[in-house]
Amino acid sequence: MPDKKIIAVLGATGAQGGGLVRAILDDPNGGFVARAITRDVTSDKAKAFAHMGVEVAAVDIDDEKSLRKALQGAYGAYFVTFYWVHFSPEKEMAEARNMASAAKAAGIKHAIWSTLEDTRQWVPLSDNRMPTLMDKYKVPHFDAKGASNKVFTELGVPTTFLLTSFYWDNFIYFGMGPKKGPDGKLAIALPMGDKKLPGIAAEDIGRCAYGIFKKGSEYIGKTVGIAGEHLTGEQMAAELTKALRQAVRYNAVTPEAYRGFGFPGAEDLGNMFQFNRDFEEYFCGARNLAVARSLNPALQSFSAFLAKNKSRIPLE
Ligand SMILES: NC(=O)c1ccc[n+]([C@@H]2O[C@H](COP(=O)([O-])OP(=O)(O)OC[C@H]3O[C@@H](n4cnc5c(N)ncnc54)[C@H](OP(=O)(O)O)[C@@H]3O)[C@@H](O)[C@H]2O)c1
Repeated sequence: MPDKKIIAVLGATGAQGGGLVRAILDDPNGGFVARAITRDVTSDKAKAFAHMGVEVAAVDIDDEKSLRKALQGAYGAYFVTFYWVHFSPEKEMAEARNMASAAKAAGIKHAIWSTLEDTRQWVPLSDNRMPTLMDKYKVPHFDAKGASNKVFTELGVPTTFLLTSFYWDNFIYFGMGPKKGPDGKLAIALPMGDKKLPGIAAEDIGRCAYGIFKKGSEYIGKTVGIAGEHLTGEQMAAELTKALRQAVRYNAVTPEAYRGFGFPGAEDLGNMFQFNRDFEEYFCGARNLAVARSLNPALQSFSAFLAKNKSRIPLE
């Protein structure tokens, strides 16, 4: 394999990174091999990759030296941070900085940074349409990623900035699936009004990233936004109704109501949906379906995603 280019994948045992590792494995003649980077090389998921012949490397992402070591000899790197593990934008920015500086030191030729908008460019802190959170942010898990873009640029890391979309997998794992109301009927609650939300199967993010690596230098220095489809709440509910063979309503709650749901991160997500709703034209426009499909011809629609995953959606 000496002539193959190594792609070091952060979050390889997770949603985005896992999709990239599987895309590389599915294309044995594509000229790339994956290096799966994990905190725990003995986990079942890490061992499963090792059994498939993937190099597995240990890392502590809070330690720049350990990251540098994990990137040594790699051509490319996929960088994603894990906001929902710690809920700290400062920590997320520090991790992004570690990744960028390790990439620079290791001489990475092409980094993909999984990012989102710094929403404060659209909704400054003085804009009271939504509350300021943690004193400095509107949508902390977006703002921290967007604010970190400049670290990659300033350090001169050849980077593609990958704007991701709402995972449809959130209907399985993130407690956003259909829930029974007092009337016993299923509904999804989103504060999107009648606006469209760009969504994607999480797996497809990594598969699009693979497409970016395959294009060589074409996307270096560029921002690429991807989604599988742009759908309204009504359209998602209609697809869920078809797939689950029982009626699912769309409950268009207000952002205020959503922020008050009380689960960890509810305010952050309430602001996020409000941003997506209020800036629909920009937000959907920045996530081009045709570009995503050109990077990943097997890109899934919501109905294709549901056909595969409907049995995994918990119905409460
Ligand atoms: N949910 C959405 O709709 C959505 C949409 C767009 C973007 N995002 C963003 O996606 C990011 C998460 O990516 P993901 O969904 O691919 O992650 P994930 O599936 O939750 O997990 C990714 C992997 O990261 C590793 N990990 C977690 N904490 C780590 C740490 N402190 N140090 C090193 N590795 C760590 C874990 O691997 P090991 O245990 O093997 O180390 C885990 O398997 C978040 O920042 C989120 O904001 C989410």
